[in-house]
Amino acid sequence: MEKIIEELKLIVGKKGWLAVEDAPELLGDITGSGEDCLLVLRPESTEEVSRITAVCCANGIAIIPQGGNTNLCRMAIPTEKSPTIVLSLKRMNRIIDLNVANATVTVEAGCVMQVLQETAAQNGLLFAPDWGARGAATVGGAVGTNGGGLNVLRYGTTREQVLGLEVVLPDGRVWNGLRRLIKDNSGFDLKQLFIGSEGTLGIITKLAFKLHPEQAVSQSMLVALSDVSRLIELYQLGRQIAGERLTAFELMPGIGIEKALQRYPDIKRPMETRADWYVLIRMSDRSSVEEHLMALFEKGSYSEVIADGVLASSGTQERNLWELREQMIPHQYFKGYTMLKWDVSVSVDRISDFLVAAQAKVHGLCSDAICYAVSHVGDGNIHYTAYLDPEVGKTGIKDEIYDVIDELIWSFGGSVVAEHGVGALFRDQVRRQKSDVEYDLLTRVKETFDPQGVMNPGKMLFDR
Ligand code: LAC
Ligand code: ZN
Repeated sequence: MEKIIEELKLIVGKKGWLAVEDAPELLGDITGSGEDCLLVLRPESTEEVSRITAVCCANGIAIIPQGGNTNLCRMAIPTEKSPTIVLSLKRMNRIIDLNVANATVTVEAGCVMQVLQETAAQNGLLFAPDWGARGAATVGGAVGTNGGGLNVLRYGTTREQVLGLEVVLPDGRVWNGLRRLIKDNSGFDLKQLFIGSEGTLGIITKLAFKLHPEQAVSQSMLVALSDVSRLIELYQLGRQIAGERLTAFELMPGIGIEKALQRYPDIKRPMETRADWYVLIRMSDRSSVEEHLMALFEKGSYSEVIADGVLASSGTQERNLWELREQMIPHQYFKGYTMLKWDVSVSVDRISDFLVAAQAKVHGLCSDAICYAVSHVGDGNIHYTAYLDPEVGKTGIKDEIYDVIDELIWSFGGSVVAEHGVGALFRDQVRRQKSDVEYDLLTRVKETFDPQGVMNPGKMLFDR
């Protein structure tokens, strides 16, 4: 093994590797620490990635591709006890070509999402994927997980932004599928297999994305809902009034708003009315969207869907509302509790039904559990969390709650993972969600690309 490690170090040179003890933050994530690994490699070219994978594959060393390591489900860290390297793509961060006429950009996988957003904006264009971790998450990771985020309602998921990919296969071969074509019916669309594959099939090294015209004007409004059962009525009204101008529609829990305001004194309380649920609505266009927001507010108030609302009338107020949204991630507020979580996907019209049913189920098993949900409403995506007293969390009630909520999700025709991916965290739940036919097909795809099982073992559906 010593000899192989030296060989890997030689491929990348002095700047291209880190000893494990010098990179603890790359070996764990928000869920905790991972398993041990041999070293962290930081290649700077596709050629280096290809040489690394060939050596690893030939010697049965597992490869964990990693971008910004902002994933929430143990996806980009070692979780199995086998000889492993972490392959960080962060040094491969060049924007290779931005073509304004074509509205496309070609970029290396380690480019940070926010850098690409800003570069596109300087050219009057919009790179659509966007979420709170934009300052650290990389575009390769965004595609590897098929991340969702705040712009899906208007522009679709990350998958829909990808035109082409360059991928290094586990045996070291390079697939150049870096096309920038809108139409290409020349066979199976292979890139789709790598999008959302969580590093289990190969390593995405370069990407070509579609860009959109920049929406120069955008404005947001926070409303307090009279009752969560009327959520979809409000969403439909928003779509009717604003059409494609409606670019975000985010459901936030009252409990989260109060926790965020307590914890972050710089965030201003947007309104005095206290409600169980709020919705943050953003509209965007090339010219003012205020009349559309006002129309939604007036109609929603008249029909008593909206209990109160506040329209951001300056950039500062707008940022304040979004700062509040970005602090809705609950981990920070319930330290010491046992956390149970799902990244639920259901059809949009069933969101309120799901929230009501899930709370009843959780409370049926544990009356003082804290139920907490944040939803990208337009995507049917609910980040659902239940917090248990740690003593209760040690009992079988935890598994019972997992089982009833999983079953509830399936009975809604939903999925236990929506935009965060499976990683190691949801692997067993997702396996139970798959039919035998689907599981068989997925396993055969994995075996075709990675017969040795070296690519990100233990993630998604696979043991190795
Ligand atoms: C959010 C991230 C966690 O929606 O997906 O806040
Ligand atoms: Zn989200």
